[in-house]
Amino acid sequence: MRIVDIIEKKRDGGELTTAEIEWFIAGYTDGSIPDYQAAALIMAVFIRGMNRRETVDLTLAMARSGDQLDLHDVAPFVVDKHSSGGVGDKVSLVALPLVAACGAPVGKMSGRGLGSSGGTLDKMESITGWSPDLTLSEFKRQVAEIGLALAGQTADLAPADGKLYALRDVTGTVASMPLIAASIMSKKLAAGADGIVLDVKMGSGAFMSNLDQARELAKVMVNIGKDAGRRTTALISDMNQPLGYAVGNALEVKEAIETLQGGGSAALWQHAVEVAGHMLLQAGKAETLADAKALATAARDDGRAWEKFRQLVAAQGGAVAEVDDPARLPQAKLVEPILAPADGVIGAMDTAVIGWASVKLGAGRMVKGDKIDHAVGLIMPRKVGDRLQMGEPIGFIHANDADKLAQARDEILSAITWSDEAVEPLPHFYGVIE
Ligand code: URA
Repeated sequence: MRIVDIIEKKRDGGELTTAEIEWFIAGYTDGSIPDYQAAALIMAVFIRGMNRRETVDLTLAMARSGDQLDLHDVAPFVVDKHSSGGVGDKVSLVALPLVAACGAPVGKMSGRGLGSSGGTLDKMESITGWSPDLTLSEFKRQVAEIGLALAGQTADLAPADGKLYALRDVTGTVASMPLIAASIMSKKLAAGADGIVLDVKMGSGAFMSNLDQARELAKVMVNIGKDAGRRTTALISDMNQPLGYAVGNALEVKEAIETLQGGGSAALWQHAVEVAGHMLLQAGKAETLADAKALATAARDDGRAWEKFRQLVAAQGGAVAEVDDPARLPQAKLVEPILAPADGVIGAMDTAVIGWASVKLGAGRMVKGDKIDHAVGLIMPRKVGDRLQMGEPIGFIHANDADKLAQARDEILSAITWSDEAVEPLPHFYGVIE
């Protein structure tokens, strides 16, 4: 086979065969197909799409690009969750310790920042020493010992997704239904979860900007999970404003810590407890969603979930002293408010623009291999429907460079639409697909 033929076939709207997809994934993983040809093919996929069969083939080829974990010797039923990507989405940092603290083992493979959306691994790496690089046996041992492990792609687990993910991040090829479905589900299948809760984001800060697209992505992923014999549930949730108040790595870790300790934003807690509830239901820890959420709430209230987070940090080499005293996490040199330009109600937010403003401050990558500045980002406590007076802070910018701070302020102000009328607050969730 020749990669140029495959690129041209997809460029012209053709349907790739199973063998072509498997050959491409094997060649890109072992390095015989270079980045520039892979980038051309994924751009063709982005523009032309893939049908259901091609999407399933891509997912399976990516899942099989490394080892596939079987965790049944350490836990009878392991649960996992994954978000389709959003701004300020630190739900995993709260939901996973809640679930593990309730006795349901969690083994998760997470990603890094992607386009305007942050990544769990980048956030956790704000903690000095914390590493997502677990070997398969370390991953298994940690699930057995503390009931919670958080790994990144390695040469062992779904390496094809690791490479493609980094390439998509910097080539404008993120918001593609088949590429997102294959990326998420290949990681989930490779990491051996029996139950998978998918948090499919919809809105101006999500890769799916409307409900129909989000439902379609959710259905495709739920079907892939079912075909592979995994219990799979998808929640469709709102991403028309940052989730919670922090955007940026160490700032989000701090918000997650506050939430695990009973504070933080109500929106983040409601989101995390809903996700945790569905994970606990899948694991058979409760009969109803209400009971499952009550279990998770009790694990927060009596400190077990917080203790589980500390164990996760310690088990993967992180400095527990920093999470015990979040003032020791990376801090930006400059912190300045963004002020409301006039009296009015926040009518809408272009959340991707807000996410990109944070990326450009240094919280994400503009080109492959860019170093992340864990300290920088935004605090955005004011939400759609809030009424502000002129000069009141909409939020705060944490920066290490005055020019970037000024640019972020302009971009955030341009991302907000003001209204003179009352505006309804946004819902958290739009539905569940099982
Ligand atoms: N999360 C992933 O792991 N992959 C995507 O493509 C989007 C979100």
